Formats: sequence, C-alpha cells, structure tokens
Amino acid sequence: MQPIRKCVFPVAGLGTSFLPATKASPKEMLPIVDKPLIQYAVEEAVEAGCTELIFITGRNKRSIEDHFDKAYELETELAYRNKLKLLDLIQDILPKNVTCLYIRQPQALGLGHAVLCARAAVGNDPFAVILADDLIDAQPGALAQMMAVYQQTGHAILGVETIDYRDTGSYGIVETETREGWEYIRSIVEKPHPDDAPSDMGVVGRYILPARIFDLLTDLPRGISGEIQLTDALSRLLREQSMIALPFQGSRYDCGSKLGYLKATVAYGLRHPEVGEKFALLLEKMRVE
Ligand code: UTP
Repeated sequence: MQPIRKCVFPVAGLGTSFLPATKASPKEMLPIVDKPLIQYAVEEAVEAGCTELIFITGRNKRSIEDHFDKAYELETELAYRNKLKLLDLIQDILPKNVTCLYIRQPQALGLGHAVLCARAAVGNDPFAVILADDLIDAQPGALAQMMAVYQQTGHAILGVETIDYRDTGSYGIVETETREGWEYIRSIVEKPHPDDAPSDMGVVGRYILPARIFDLLTDLPRGISGEIQLTDALSRLLREQSMIALPFQGSRYDCGSKLGYLKATVAYGLRHPEVGEKFALLLEKMRVE
C-alpha cells in the first residue's frame, strides 16, 4: 500500500455556534490554551505521515494562511529582543518538507462540497480528511492509528466513537459487523433520531477516503438543509467497496460546541507545562469559593 501523503482540512464552515468570535476568523483558529485548533490538527496529520496539506477555506481564510506562513516582522522583532525560544516556537510550526495549499470554497454548501473542492489538488490518490473542531488527544494520534489500519487493509477508514444515544441526531451513525478483527460498516446514516439510529457509533472528524468519493460527491443532489452531505456520498461508496469503522484509542473533544471547547481548554490547561499546576490550584480555589 502506498503511504497517504495528502490531508484535506475543511475550514470553510460558518461556525455559527461561536459567533461573534467567528465573525472575522474561522472557528479552527480558536486556541486551546495557546495553540489554535487547526495547528493541533496539522500536527496530527504530519505525525501520521502527511506532507501535502490542503486547506478548504471560506471567506475568512487570511488568518489560517498567515498562521502557517513565515512572519518576517514578528521573527525580526523576537530576534531583536533575544526571545529565542519564542522565535523557535513560531519558526517550527511546520517541518520543512511539508507544503500547504489553500483552496476557496465559494459558498458554505456543506462538508461534502468542501471535500469536493479538494478534487484537483488530491488527484487520484487516497487521502485523509481532518475536521479540526474535533480535537483528539491520543498517543499515537487518531489519524496515525487509522493509517495503520489502512496499511493493513487498503479500505476506506472512518474514525468513530461510541456516543450517547440521545446525541445521534448530531452525527453520522454507522452500523457495523466484526470480521477478521475489524468493524466493517454495513450502513451509514446522517443524523438519525435516537429511535431510528442503527447504533450508537458516531463518525467523528477523521476519514481516509479513496478518490472515487469525488465522483460520488459530484453526482449528489443537495440534502435536506441544502447542503452536500459527505455521509450521503459515503453511503453510496459503501455499495461499491468495503469500509472500516475504527474506534480509535484516545479522548475526543467536540470543540464545535461551547461546552466541548471549555472541556478541552480545562484538560489541556491542566497539563500545560507552563501553567498546569497553577491552573489546577486556581480551579480548586474557584470550586471551594
Ligand atoms: P460544521 O457542521 O461544524 O459547521 O462543519 P460549521 O459551519 O463549521 O459550524 P456551526 O454548526 O455553524 O457552528 C464541520 C466541518 O466542516 C467544515 C467546517 O469548517 C468544520 O470543520 N465545513 C462545513 C466546510 O468547510 N464547509 C462547509 O460548507 C461546511
């Protein structure tokens, strides 16, 4: 199996859950302590062996492009002030062998449409997709775990997690059967009512997909909310080829919701080398008060 080198990051959603914070900046730039969500996602992709990063951006693309670009003025200023640790920190955001490409999604027509925008950049090779608002704390990273399964099977892989049945209406839900130690997907349905959900296994923002998905996305009619749903194309892909659901090891934080975002901030804050201990004391003090 050829290793996968390309990873797509759809970052063109409207991010309405975080308005007004997301009025002029994508939600993927929201920081968890001192690092934006998109940087955690990029680090996970690079760790998994990806070297070509494809960002599908919307109207607020500037900040993401700037974040991964060289910042001449800031670097000069930090060098002048002898702040060399900080200088290293901003210079080493991306390894030298990694390239970034930015593609505009002209309208937020859904996740499926965002992925389709990557077609020309991806070409015919299998590729990975990461949704940065699903922050996954895992060792090795969730995408690296999925790559290992891809290397063994060659099938499309979806990252999944057992969720609360009451929340099935917020996820793509898969029904699986266990064969040869893997969870093969039998069906996938977008945001079912808990009474209709085939299981409590929700697809979270990690995918390894074949380029065939682009043909299927192209032919799709728009779904209920007028959006092109990735889940609908995955359901069609399932008629043609095997797909595996991987319940990866690790903790996921739904940083697309305010509560999930706060939970991630607390978890990452508590183990932050600079402020972790003081933050723990602070939380304890606030709890007592
Ligand atoms: P969400 O469903 O979370 O939508 O998208 P959203 O617009 O970002 O957030 P809310 O619900 O309005 O708060 C899941 C992922 O797909 C991307 C988003 O940026 C996010 O990473 N996306 C979604 C796009 O890139 N384009 C779209 O048209 C829709």
